[in-house]
Amino acid sequence: MKVLGIVAGRHGGNSEILVKEALLACQESGAECKMINLFDYHIEHCIGCESCTVQMGEVEMGKREKYGGCVLKNKDDMDKIVNEMQTCNGVIMGVPSYDLTPSSLYLKFAQRFLAYELAFRIAIGEVKEDPHMVGGLIANGGSCLDWQTLTLDAMSATMFTQSIQVVDKMLATRNGLPGNVLLRPEQIARARKMGQNIIKAIQTPVEERGWLGEEDMGMCPNCHANLIYRGEPHWDGIQFPFECAVCGAGGDLVRDEQGQLRFVLAENGLIRDRNKNESRAEHLNEIVRTRIDYLSRKHETSQLAEYYKSITFPTI
Ligand SMILES: Cc1cc2nc3c(=O)[nH]c(=O)nc-3n(C[C@H](O)[C@H](O)[C@H](O)COP(=O)(O)O)c2cc1C
Repeated sequence: MKVLGIVAGRHGGNSEILVKEALLACQESGAECKMINLFDYHIEHCIGCESCTVQMGEVEMGKREKYGGCVLKNKDDMDKIVNEMQTCNGVIMGVPSYDLTPSSLYLKFAQRFLAYELAFRIAIGEVKEDPHMVGGLIANGGSCLDWQTLTLDAMSATMFTQSIQVVDKMLATRNGLPGNVLLRPEQIARARKMGQNIIKAIQTPVEERGWLGEEDMGMCPNCHANLIYRGEPHWDGIQFPFECAVCGAGGDLVRDEQGQLRFVLAENGLIRDRNKNESRAEHLNEIVRTRIDYLSRKHETSQLAEYYKSITFPTI
């Protein structure tokens, strides 16, 4: 069993302490544990060149033989980190909330994952063995849920390209200065429980693995996210009354017998479940079609493109 802790908080900070406690529990169960703090690594931000998805599409269509990977792959430490991560069975992320969301350091790191799509790398033999990674997510901040509303859910959204099955999530609250969490034994204990849950999941056959966190956490019964929004038609016309902003599950808001509002999945509510490789492949289909449509009609835009190119404003 190999477990990697990834911290995006300060050295000696609250996120790091919580990840260390979770890893200690993993280590006590016999796992080989490593931990990195993203502050110690050089990570470039995604430049949006789309070279990775274009190449992946071409390899899949047989138009290109070899996947060259991310164009930044020799410019920073991402290759080293992701190659190690993709040999691990468990990953525990510890991320501080900045402005209700995961810190930009974490997002900068995770938004480079696309070029390292695990299912794709396995398919082309770059990753020899599917590690069947399970994940534990720790969000940590100075406030309660009200000021950390997007952190855990945004972290969850970064797990799909790595096919990481999130089995536990924890929100650590009211931790301001580094070390504040040491006054919160219940949070330290919860982090330890996360470590135990990660081991339990690794030791469970892949097809039998499931959610190990609090049963009533969040609104979505599929991924336990909090963010449910009113659905709009998808690119192919599919629509649900309400959808989960994280996993894409579709359903409706219904009052149960106790009068509590619940998000109840539609019969076909999981057809767009982003946790599934097939659903994400369908999304790739959407991306490719959008691209083909644009390229086939690009000539119609040449005058407008020249017009916008010619417009300039003073910069700073
Ligand atoms: C730029 C910035 C923005 C922050 N925004 C929030 C916030 O929106 N909600 C919150 O609960 N805490 C916020 N905090 C507090 C941190 O999340 C908190 O100090 C946390 O414990 C830092 O984690 P660390 O000790 O692992 O670095 C913010 C801190 C900084 C530096």
